[in-house]
Amino acid sequence: MVSRHDRGMANSPNHYPDVFDDPQFVELYADRVAQMMPMVRDLHRMVTILLAEHAPDDARILVLGAGGGLETRSLAEAAPGWTFDAVDPSKPMLELAARTLEPHAPRVVMHHGYIDDAPSGPFAGATSLFTLHFLPEDERRRTVAEVRRRLAPGAPFVVAHLSFPHADDAERELWLRRHVATLLASGNAPADVDKARNAIATEVPVLSPERDRAVLQEAGFTDVTEFFSAFTLHGWVGYA
Ligand SMILES: C[S@@+](CC[C@H](N)C(=O)[O-])C[C@H]1O[C@@H](n2cnc3c(N)ncnc32)[C@H](O)[C@@H]1O
Repeated sequence: MVSRHDRGMANSPNHYPDVFDDPQFVELYADRVAQMMPMVRDLHRMVTILLAEHAPDDARILVLGAGGGLETRSLAEAAPGWTFDAVDPSKPMLELAARTLEPHAPRVVMHHGYIDDAPSGPFAGATSLFTLHFLPEDERRRTVAEVRRRLAPGAPFVVAHLSFPHADDAERELWLRRHVATLLASGNAPADVDKARNAIATEVPVLSPERDRAVLQEAGFTDVTEFFSAFTLHGWVGYA
């Protein structure tokens, strides 16, 4: 990597799930993503297309929650002139990203921390995949606003994460059941599916798609468009 910002994280009310500090979980992360979310490669292609609509060939791209390095690798392969600032609070996940991104190391700067630890930009685009659902709504809005502050005017921010309607317990249970059924139908082990369900039900502050869109708008993003919707996984693009 060009450099490793290991200066400790800026003061932040954030915290992230312990599982990202578990070496065994991190070791199996890439396989697990492919198994839990078979559409992830398609999603990476859509993210690339949405960023490339506005980003020049030599764009500087911000990747928030870049642990594992999978989306940065896809973007790096698709756009050989882009450079990346990859931000993540989990050291093991950042170390895995460093290994995943080894062939692209001269184009990636890693930052250990949260959005407050990211450079000020200006970036030509930003993305955050499977990450924002871990942030409670107020912190999510603050984080998204901090992303926007780092983007050039009109630059795209592409996000995708868990989101489902839950006006009442019955609706919440319905979507959790559908999520579980999808994971089982994709061949995941029932014990792993059980763990994932419990984590979502108890630790992940999932918003409804309406609130997710509103958070992006309240943080100042314009033309917010839902480009992806697959049961409990949704994606939006908005413009700074
Ligand atoms: C499920 S992983 C997704 C990693 C990668 N984006 C991908 O698509 O494979 C979630 C990542 O978000 C990171 N994370 C959790 N809270 C965060 C926050 N507040 N800011 C940035 N990253 C965060 C975790 O450390 C973890 O690496």
